[in-house]
Amino acid sequence: MEYQANYSIWDGVYYHPHLFGGIMLTAALLGFSTSYFSGMASFPTLPYMLPYLGNLQKQKGSKKHIRVYMDGCFDLMHYGHANALRQAKALGDELVVGLVSDEEIINNKGPPVLSMEERLALVSGLKWVDEVIANAPYAITEEFMNRLFNEHKIDYIIHGDDPCLLPDGSDAYALAKKVGRYKQIKRTEGVSSTDIVGRILASMEDIEVNRERNGMKSNLDNHSQSKHASNFLPTSRRIVQFSNGKGPGPNARVVYIDGAFDLFHAGHVEILKSARQLGDFLLVGIYTDQTVSQHRGSHFPLMHLHERSLSVLACRYVDEVIIGAPWKITNDMITTFNISLVVHGTVSESDSSLNGFVDPYKVPKNMDIFKTIESPKNITTTSVAQRIKANYEIYEKRNAKKEASEKKFYEDRKYISGD
Ligand SMILES: *[C@@H]1O[C@H](CO)[C@@H](O)[C@H](O)[C@H]1NC(C)=O
Ligand SMILES: *[C@@H]1O[C@H](CO)[C@@H](O)[C@H](O)[C@H]1NC(C)=O
Ligand SMILES: *[C@@H]1O[C@H](CO)[C@@H](O)[C@H](O)[C@H]1NC(C)=O
Repeated sequence: MEYQANYSIWDGVYYHPHLFGGIMLTAALLGFSTSYFSGMASFPTLPYMLPYLGNLQKQKGSKKHIRVYMDGCFDLMHYGHANALRQAKALGDELVVGLVSDEEIINNKGPPVLSMEERLALVSGLKWVDEVIANAPYAITEEFMNRLFNEHKIDYIIHGDDPCLLPDGSDAYALAKKVGRYKQIKRTEGVSSTDIVGRILASMEDIEVNRERNGMKSNLDNHSQSKHASNFLPTSRRIVQFSNGKGPGPNARVVYIDGAFDLFHAGHVEILKSARQLGDFLLVGIYTDQTVSQHRGSHFPLMHLHERSLSVLACRYVDEVIIGAPWKITNDMITTFNISLVVHGTVSESDSSLNGFVDPYKVPKNMDIFKTIESPKNITTTSVAQRIKANYEIYEKRNAKKEASEKKFYEDRKYISGD
């Protein structure tokens, strides 16, 4: 076998798949898997890898670390994204996520609702994500693929079963497929960012309409109800897949936080992180849809209970959830779950205690196990919805277009197996 010093791994794999494929892959895995992220721009290529080929035989049978890569915009990140990343992670040992830059999103789709910082917080908060590459390109170029393989030591590029075409109509993953480093996952049913924007727009129409009570009312009501009901089909299997499946260990200090967790956002991730740091086990109570409607208005929640539960379960700081928690914390709850601390953030959707409702935290307050914690971010579900409202026309137009293509996707869709 002949090696040329100026080969990049990619060149080798690409031009001589029969010669290099297997060896290169394994060498990359064993040699460098622990040193990722150290030298983003100038990681050694082939010459430096040769010494590791010697180790290869010795280490045969020891555990390889397969690194997989999946990219996306993750704007208005939802449990569908989380499920895709969960499936991607299952195809390897370490999951690296490429997060498309704000500029690239603007150029390709129009302004994102969430900033890079917020999207980064959301994606990094997922329990299946090991690393994030910020500012990834919108479409994988050959050059970027080289970097993934050489610098980031990626073994496989993962994408959903929906087609991803470049502006010239070619398959964005053709190159990766050609060299056998592409794997596919099943796209999650029932939710998309387009669909969520649709729900927000529809809920705002409802609010406007209720206010104005003009002749358009029935028309719009009809529109919003028919178009934006959730398509999600919750199964027990999905909940199990998202669950940690573990209770608190012996002597664990259980921290409890409750909320609607509607339109799961960066503020939620941060407050859950802060709460988790106060104990050993974080139990999250998620209000029922009725409770949320009662306190925030009939057009809320935007995401129903099962959807909100999955989003919270996907967060790395969460140990367990109560799917449908009561508004008011009772003595019995505290005993049942051995809750040693109840926390509540300073930023919340509405201060219902001032609206004539009883204080839901009265019991823990009396027991002196209640603590208010500073919300690290002031973002709320309403403020995210407000941003969409502020750009109403842009999003409305963009959404109409995307809804049409998503409708087509669902119509043309065939069963594919997957998890
Ligand atoms: C919704 O509107 C369509 C026509 O636009 C009408 O045929 C249908 O009966 C309406 N449905 C409801 C529930 O009002
Ligand atoms: C209940 O929680 C406390 C900490 O607040 C812990 O010390 C105790 O061991 C827990 N009880 C059980 C039975 O785990
Ligand atoms: C949120 O906080 C930022 C800075 O921390 C501030 O500029 C912004 O006005 C705040 N927004 C709201 C709605 O309070």
